[in-house]
Amino acid sequence: MVKIRWLGHSAFEISTQKITVYIDPFLSGNPKAALKANEIKKADFILVTHDHFDHIGDSVDIAKRTGATLIAVPEVASSVGGNIKTVAPNIGSMVNLNGLKVAFVQAFHTSDKGAPTGIVFTVEEKTIYHAGDTGLFGDMKLIGEVYNPEVALLPIGGYYTMGPVEAAIAVSLIKPKVVIPMHYGTFPVLEQTPEKFVEEVKKRAPTVKVVVLNPRETYEV
Ligand code: NI
Ligand code: MN
Repeated sequence: MVKIRWLGHSAFEISTQKITVYIDPFLSGNPKAALKANEIKKADFILVTHDHFDHIGDSVDIAKRTGATLIAVPEVASSVGGNIKTVAPNIGSMVNLNGLKVAFVQAFHTSDKGAPTGIVFTVEEKTIYHAGDTGLFGDMKLIGEVYNPEVALLPIGGYYTMGPVEAAIAVSLIKPKVVIPMHYGTFPVLEQTPEKFVEEVKKRAPTVKVVVLNPRETYEV
């Protein structure tokens, strides 16, 4: 059983009996954050998709306090600072790290250092694709074919990323079993609700289940 808890924006907590993983833990300064960074007492890994502030967020603070290993592409891992453990594979293949398999994949976005990424990871046989911040690109189909993710976490808020229509087309390319929308409702420029996305997925990828979470809610897979 893998628990996927949305912490608001692109931040998620992925946990099993054995490991706890945080992705893009932007909590301080996030008006939709489900918890404060200092409430996190246990973490094994922190995955960071790219170096924008709303994704690096509290990563270093959490890593320092919990001893978690930060995983990001080399240029991001080497620039975060703090005396923390890092592992820095690049975009390209699945890496096995003590029970967590991680592959960095393409994201169509910008960053200050290194390349922006999506992250596919497998924990207890469940594969999850966190797309990071990205526009729509055709090779999402390839990510679906190569890694066959059961769950896709996709940005739908527009302005900095795909909006509801582009994200629904992404769902039709990736073909996950379940999609959970993210990166909306946090800031005024972003789409505030997932309704348009839900409607578009019904039209474009009717077999895919959309799970809309409120920050702090958990979906189990
Ligand atoms: Ni970004
Ligand atoms: Mn962002």
